[in-house]
This record gives sequence, structure tokens and C-alpha cells, in this order.
Amino acid sequence: MKIIIFGVKGMLGSDLLNVCEKNGIEAIGYDLPELDLCDSNADLESLPRCDWVVNCAAYTNVDGAEGDFDTAMAVNSTAAGIIARFCKKRDVPMVHISTDYVFDGTKITPYSEKDKVKPINAYGRSKLAGEELVRNIWDKHIIVRTQSLFGLNGKNFIKAICGRIESGSPLKVVDDQVSCPTFTRDLSDAIIRLLHVSRYGTVNVSSEGACSWHEFACAIADVVKPGTEVRAVSSVEFPMPAKRPAYSVLSKKRYEEWTGAKMPSWQDALKRYLETK
Ligand SMILES: NC(=O)c1ccc[n+]([C@@H]2O[C@H](COP(=O)([O-])OP(=O)(O)OC[C@H]3O[C@@H](n4cnc5c(N)ncnc54)[C@H](OP(=O)(O)O)[C@@H]3O)[C@@H](O)[C@H]2O)c1
Repeated sequence: MKIIIFGVKGMLGSDLLNVCEKNGIEAIGYDLPELDLCDSNADLESLPRCDWVVNCAAYTNVDGAEGDFDTAMAVNSTAAGIIARFCKKRDVPMVHISTDYVFDGTKITPYSEKDKVKPINAYGRSKLAGEELVRNIWDKHIIVRTQSLFGLNGKNFIKAICGRIESGSPLKVVDDQVSCPTFTRDLSDAIIRLLHVSRYGTVNVSSEGACSWHEFACAIADVVKPGTEVRAVSSVEFPMPAKRPAYSVLSKKRYEEWTGAKMPSWQDALKRYLETK
């Protein structure tokens, strides 16, 4: 099997490339500056033949999107549509990565793929627009909705908390946003599984379980420096440009049905991540 990965230098794309290599899958990746998916002169026609395309490229600055919606839409929606058209022309199936931020976070039980979407920030709106374009353009798609990623490459919440612990800075973390932190390596394993199931549609993939950012920070501190005080604060005390859903845990029932596999828990993922650092 040969796959093309867009956004290969990003947190997920770089892990997916590694996981492909470990699984004997030939993968070739593209990213900025060599290939700008928003450049109307970008030459996709010259890309090699492949069996799957996986789009990990995105504008992921959630707060930045509030003031730069046009760029967020160009990358998260228009470019996703360009990739879908490219795949349709070649009759190649595609995986497109999306987000829990398509939901408003008012539920108190895990979101299924059938739940009503209602993004509450600009990033979420741009990602939802991308999903809709992909669905409308090309039937042979898998839209993978995921959440709260951490990986070895790039900035993430765990690195931020470890940095503050090392510098002795006080830790204040919100306890009113509940999600499910997901290791990009586990997500990459799941994407590879999904390439083999012969199913198309939308599917949620994230770690098992649920926690607030405060619980997650406490679990990190317990390993890195037990006894560290992590003060719980509310989102009101910690204002950010973009609103976040209060609860956005994704149900993995469909993923389990399709693949027969279960995602690891966030606690297990965190342990393995900290061991590989
Ligand atoms: N991170 C999370 O917590 C999270 C949560 C839920 C869903 N997701 C979704 O998961 C996917 C992967 O996220 P990630 O955190 O791995 O993202 P990331 O680290 O920001 O990687 C995205 C990659 O896409 C590249 N890119 C941006 N604009 C491009 C363009 N015009 N042409 C080509 N490449 C471009 C970026 O390059 P630059 O860095 O140079 O801009 C970057 O290398 C995305 O679809 C994201 O929306 C992420």
C-alpha cells in the first residue's frame, strides 16, 4: 500500500509517517513550503500514484482563527475541497482529519457521529466547512473526528505543563472543559486500521475515558514532580479569544464496530508519551 500524507511536518502527520514506516506502508509526505495547498498554482497533478490520501494539513491556531477566519477557511475548508477533487479525479479514497470543536459542548454524554454539529468558534466553523466540502465532493472519504492531540513533534499541553513545572511557575488550569487527550501515535495506528476496513463515512477517534484539563495537568504533575500544586480555575478566570466547548468527549462505538479495536485510555497514552520523551 502507498499513501500520500498532506501536512506531514505537523504533529499528527509526522507521527503518521513514522507509523507507516513501522507497518511497512510506503508513505510520501508534503507540507509547506514545498507544497502550499492554498496556492492556486500548486501542482497536485504531478504527485505520484497512491492507494490512499490522508489530509493532516490544517490551520490549527484556535485562538488565531478568531481574527484570521479567511486563512482558517482557506486551509481547513478550501484546501480540503481541492484534495477531495484531486482524489475523486484519480479515484483514490481519502482520510480527512476533523475535530470535536464542530460541537457546541452542551451535552453531558459522549458525542456520536450522528449528534448535531454547532461550532462555537471560528476554527470549528472552518473545520465543519471542510468536512461538508469533502462529503459533498467525494464519496470515498473517511472523516476522522479527533480531539486534544499531543505528540512528540510540536507544541502541546504536556510540554507546556512540564515547562512550567521545571521553571517553578505556578500552575492554574481550567477544570470546566472536559475532553479526551489523545496521543498522535495512537491516532496514527487507528488511521492505519481504518484504511483496511472498507468503510466510508465519519468516525470519531480519540483516547478512551474523559478528563478536564485540570485533571490532565494533575496526572502530568504526578509523574513529573509529585506534590506540585495545580490550582483549578474556571474558563471565566482564564479568558481566551476563542470559546471552547465545555464537554466534547467523543464516543468511539463506531470506531470499535468498524475496526474491532479499542483505543487506549488517556492515562495509558500519557504514560507512554512521558516514557518516550
Ligand atoms: N492539535 C489538536 O489538538 C487537534 C484536535 C482536534 C483535531 N485536530 C486536527 O488534526 C489534524 C492534525 O492536527 P495537528 O495538531 O497535527 O496540526 P499541525 O501540527 O498544526 O500540523 C498541520 C500541518 O499542516 C501544515 N499546513 C498549514 N497550512 C498549509 C498549507 N496551506 N499547505 C500545506 N500544508 C499546510 C502546517 O504547516 P505550518 O505549521 O507551517 O503552518 C503543519 O505542518 C488537523 O486537521 C487538526 O484540525 C487537531
